[in-house]
Amino acid sequence: MTTHTTARRGWARRAAALLATAGLAATTALALAAPAHAGTTLGQSAAERGRYFGAAIAAGRMSDSTYLGIFNREFNSVTAENEMKWDATEPNQGQFSYANGDRIVNHAISRGMKVRGHALLWHAQQPGWAQNMSGQSLRNAAINHVTRVATYYRGKIHSWDVVNEAFADDGRGSRRDSNLQRTGTDWIEAAFRAARAADPGAKLCYNDYNTDSINAKSTGVYNMVRDFKARGVPIDCVGFQSHFGTTIPSDYRANLQRFADLGVDVQITELDIEQGSNQANAYRQVVEACLAVSRCTGITVWGIRDTDSWRGGANPLLFDGSGNKKAAYTATLNALNAGNNNGGGDNGGSTSIDTNAWYVLVNRSSGKALDVYNLSTADGADIVQWSRNNGNQQQWQFVASGNGNYRVKSRLSGKVLDVYAKSTANGGEVVQWPDLNGTNQQWAVAISNGYATLRNVNSGKVLEVQGGSAADGANVVQYDGWNGSNQQWQLVRVG
Ligand code: G3I
Repeated sequence: MTTHTTARRGWARRAAALLATAGLAATTALALAAPAHAGTTLGQSAAERGRYFGAAIAAGRMSDSTYLGIFNREFNSVTAENEMKWDATEPNQGQFSYANGDRIVNHAISRGMKVRGHALLWHAQQPGWAQNMSGQSLRNAAINHVTRVATYYRGKIHSWDVVNEAFADDGRGSRRDSNLQRTGTDWIEAAFRAARAADPGAKLCYNDYNTDSINAKSTGVYNMVRDFKARGVPIDCVGFQSHFGTTIPSDYRANLQRFADLGVDVQITELDIEQGSNQANAYRQVVEACLAVSRCTGITVWGIRDTDSWRGGANPLLFDGSGNKKAAYTATLNALNAGNNNGGGDNGGSTSIDTNAWYVLVNRSSGKALDVYNLSTADGADIVQWSRNNGNQQQWQFVASGNGNYRVKSRLSGKVLDVYAKSTANGGEVVQWPDLNGTNQQWAVAISNGYATLRNVNSGKVLEVQGGSAADGANVVQYDGWNGSNQQWQLVRVG
């Protein structure tokens, strides 16, 4: 072990000893096991309930410190309002332009936020060259667009709106007429298959408006999703834009639930509600509907302040033009805090292990990533948690041991997670060590609701952030498994 890790570990060991002697470990466990806490921001409270709470932002407004300050403080997911659409990302055929999308995506990822990709194919906001195309050449161009953009952002996107607004408002649940539809009804499934091939780790969503209640249009989408699931077309989620007037449909929750019952996640993707005496109440109802559906994985509002909204004059958002919290904000936060943690689908974490992939392991309690301390490549280097930055020191591959268990290999060092000196004690140190396929290097991985627990084969104890700390540099150790949120890790595929 290096000097700095020995010194660092001194306090960790003393803390562990103190906790054990004073019987505080059990107290800490109880505190962490308690029902979800009252969060003080939308993102924090939603995360406590296994969900995200996001906002659409515009790259051009990111230099506005009030705007960016609210975004950074309140949200843990982002959608680019316009910057990842076809006209923005492929302004000339075969020439791709990602600068504005990257500003949003990189900002979000550096802060540990999720990214909703919006939108790969849509009848609107197509570049002029695509608007003028038809038939097979348009189909080829569209699928190439899906492949190129989803490949470029591979590993960074929590959910993609693969296809946006493909159903008509004709009261019959028909497909919308468009140049894309005229290439053949199978254009949607072709897009989903291309997106899956390009980014297997992203959730693939269909997204639409006026599908928030049980009506002809939403039933058209429902039938398509049911058909896709029956035929194995890859679809993981349905987005409900939820651009509302002053009231919420009475069957909103029931509609979300009927889609969830098809075996897809549901997400509220573009929420805004017209200002009026019912606005705060309506926001509360939306949050309650999502929290009542275990596969409703998150909510995104379509903008930050009323003055940022595409619905000029409707004042439909959570912050006023000066950035003050509105009554709708307070109702939203209170409704989140009143909710219980009933799942939230799998919250974007991988639900199975791909031994070819690289994962960031994000701790459920702290939101921080499993990290080789100080970029060390040395034997015995300490394993800690650190703010997520997706660096090689935070990327891990699962190596099959052949008995159903895995070693967990660092992309930086090529070494694997190892319980130091084969300790079987609570608080036993986890370090990196050359891969010997020892039982103290093997982990049984169980994934539930999108969170993985790693149980050491030698000791039977599980990988945890010691004491449920939220600090950068907090120690990662083994401890008796009690299903604490500090013992649960989201596997976020990044490569
Ligand atoms: O950037 C140009 C600016 O240079 C120009 O001077 C100005 C003139 O009108 O236009 C600006 O671009 C506008 C762009 O927003 C950025 O503000 C476009 O005209 C305008 O059409 C575009 O509107 C966007 C709209 O999608 C396009 O259909 C909205 O911002 C965006 O909020 C909205 O988002 C959609 C979702 O993607 C899908 N669901 C519906 C939702 C609301 O319409």
